[in-house]
Amino acid sequence: MLNSVAPGRYAHVVGWGSAVPERVLTNAEIESFVETNDAWIRERTGICERRIASPDDDTVSLGTRAARRALACADILPNQVDLIITATSTPARFFPATANLIQDRLGATRAGAFDLLAACTGFIYGLGLAAAQIRTGAINTAVVIGTETLSRIVDWQDRNTCILFGDGAGAFVLTASEVPGGVLDVVLHSDGSGGDLLTCHTGMRSFWLEEEASRDAIHMSGREVFRFASRVMVTATEEVLERCGLEPEDVSLVVPHQANIRIIEAAARGLKLPMEQFAVNIERYGNTSTASIPLAFEEAMQAERVHSNDYVVLVGFGAGLTWGAAVIQWAARPTRAIQLRAILQESWYILARVRSLFLRFLRFIGALIFRKSDTER
Ligand code: ACO
Repeated sequence: MLNSVAPGRYAHVVGWGSAVPERVLTNAEIESFVETNDAWIRERTGICERRIASPDDDTVSLGTRAARRALACADILPNQVDLIITATSTPARFFPATANLIQDRLGATRAGAFDLLAACTGFIYGLGLAAAQIRTGAINTAVVIGTETLSRIVDWQDRNTCILFGDGAGAFVLTASEVPGGVLDVVLHSDGSGGDLLTCHTGMRSFWLEEEASRDAIHMSGREVFRFASRVMVTATEEVLERCGLEPEDVSLVVPHQANIRIIEAAARGLKLPMEQFAVNIERYGNTSTASIPLAFEEAMQAERVHSNDYVVLVGFGAGLTWGAAVIQWAARPTRAIQLRAILQESWYILARVRSLFLRFLRFIGALIFRKSDTER
């Protein structure tokens, strides 16, 4: 995907951040409303608990928090951002895009913004698009966000699915640099013939039906998705490594989509890598779809598992069917002469809120004036 690039121009990940709701839902609690048990869930999935968004939270608020943390980590102000890509399967609204609403809350006034839907592979898709835009010279700085409130599209009576999913958000900041490395390559795949294996209908009204369509929930053929996932985690990783002239043993860390610990173990066996080389946090968050890779990556960074010149693989799969993988050659972060102070960033977000309210007020006054002049005509 990154073959046609401007020479000497690289896309580096310079910031990362995440946000999860406070409410923890344990396996024991799920036992109280569907026929399941903690031992089965732990053994068959590796999940012990997940987070559930409060009624006040949505993909916009979680995504904004994750993006703010990633920007603070990168020491970059929102007005330096050229592009915001939000990957989500649970947008707050059909439109405007979640990315537009996050852009407003960040006060990223120069940035273009859009959502993409590639289910759990969405973060890899977003990373690939952002890196390509940077490497061709079209833009300098991008924020890629994965944000989900899957708890709102889960059928809490369906034990096949309700045990798996959780809510959360994660974000990366990417910038252009002359330092070799960064996002080296990304492979993206799709097979829509498997679309029915994992699906959630929109519940939109029909012109032809009198009743309102009811909102649907996630439907999944678990075993078939499991088999597909165990295979493509290996093939996508091998493919992207081969394109970079690398072997699995060159990789220091694999950050896989967190869907089931047994899928990650199968990938480790297939790649002949020890489980210690995989970033795993599924036990605490479950499957957070597009957020799972940046969430696991942030924890790996906190644990100092990534060092200069390490090769890191991000690999995921999801509904669609979709799958993909990326290779990052980690570089020491460029040190800035003056670290932007947190207080400056906080003030920025307050001003962004004031600006947004002011623009809404101006639109309201404008609409009143037009209405008055229309009635006088
Ligand atoms: N508690 C207890 N028993 C259960 C539960 C549960 N929560 N769920 C299923 N069972 C039962 C089944 O009914 C079945 O019983 P039976 O043999 O009497 O019919 C038995 O356990 C085994 O069922 P399987 O479906 O074979 O269980 P499996 O070991 O395959 O685990 C699971 C099911 C966890 C869903 C697994 O198939 C899986 O993880 N699949 C992949 C799912 C996935 O990754 N989805 C996300 C994709 S990413 C995205 O885009 C959102």
